[in-house]
Amino acid sequence: MDLEMIRRPRRLRKNQVLRKMVRETRVDKSSLVYPMFVIEGTNIKEEIPSMAGQFRYSVDRMEEKLIELSDAGVPGVMLFGIPASKDEVGSGAYAQDGVVQRAFCKAKEACPDLYRIGDVCLCEYTSHGHCGLLRGQEVDNDGTLELLAKTALSQAQAGADMVAPSDMMDGRVAAIRRRLDQEGYADIPIMSYAVKFASSFYGPFRDAAGSAPAFGDRKSYQMDYHNRREAWKEALLDAEEGADILMVKPAMAYGDLIREIRDRTNLPLAAYSVSGEYSMVKAAAQAGILDETKVLCEMAVSAYRAGADIYITYFAKELAECMDRGIIG
Ligand code: PBG
Repeated sequence: MDLEMIRRPRRLRKNQVLRKMVRETRVDKSSLVYPMFVIEGTNIKEEIPSMAGQFRYSVDRMEEKLIELSDAGVPGVMLFGIPASKDEVGSGAYAQDGVVQRAFCKAKEACPDLYRIGDVCLCEYTSHGHCGLLRGQEVDNDGTLELLAKTALSQAQAGADMVAPSDMMDGRVAAIRRRLDQEGYADIPIMSYAVKFASSFYGPFRDAAGSAPAFGDRKSYQMDYHNRREAWKEALLDAEEGADILMVKPAMAYGDLIREIRDRTNLPLAAYSVSGEYSMVKAAAQAGILDETKVLCEMAVSAYRAGADIYITYFAKELAECMDRGIIG
C-alpha cells in the first residue's frame, strides 16, 4: 500500500534517549514532601496497620526517619501529631509542650536542613474527631478560627518553617495570617489545603491518627467531590486571604482540578497523594497484582503533569530513589 504519511508520532519514541529528550514533564526530588505521624510516648516505632510500611514514631525515635529522608534527598516533611489524650476543644493541638510542638523542636535540632511543615487542624486532638469546635452537632466555623490561629502560632514558635491548615473552616487562612504577622512570624508561609474534598481516600489516615469523626461525617466543611467550579472558588478565596501555596487533595482522582487551579491562579500548587492512594498501591502490590514501583512513579508523574509543583506523598523516599535511578526524571 502506498501510504504517504508525513506525520509519524512514533518517530520520537524510537529510543530512550530521544524519548527523554522530548519529555514534557520533568520531575525532581526538590518537590517532594513526606507526611509523618508523631505519637506521644517514648521508644515507639509502630507500624500503622492500614498503611503497610508506614510508622508512628515517638519524638525520641523520629530522628532515624528524618535522617533516612534527608539522606534520600527528600527536602520536606509534614508533621501530624497524635496526642496521648483528646478533649472537646482539641487543646493538644495548641499546647506549648504538645506532641507536634516537641516534634518540631526535635526535628529542628536533629535534622535542621529538612524543611518542616505543620498540618494545622484539630481533628487529631478532639475527642469527637471533628476538625473544629462543636456547637451541638454542628462544627462552629468562627469559634474554631481562633484555635486554628493559636495552633499555627504554636507550631511556628516550636520551629515549623511553614503551616498548612487542613480543617476547611471559612476564613482560616486570613485568621492564621493575621495572628502569625502580629506575633512576628510574617515570614512563615501558609500552604492552604484549599481544595480539599470529603473523601473516602482518607480512611487509612484516620486509622493512623485515630481521628475518624465520632458521629456524622465531614461533608459540612470538606468539599463535595461532584464540584469543579467550587474548587476555583475555594482556591481564589484562599489566595485572597493570603495563602502562599495552594493544595489539591486527594491527588489521584483529582487531576482535572490540579490542572484547573494551575491555570487559574499564579500561586505554587501542591498535590497530596493521600493515605488511601498509598494503601491501595501497597495492597495491590502485596497481592501480586501491580508493580509497586512502576505504579507509584506513574501516579506521581500524573500529578506533576496535571500541574503540581509540590508532591506530598507517603512514597516520597521511594520516589526520590526512582528519580536517582532515572526511572522517572
Ligand atoms: C486533618 C487531615 C486529614 C488528612 C490530612 N490532614 C484527615 C481528614 O481530613 O480526615 C488526610 C491525609 C491522608 O489521608 O493521607 N484534617
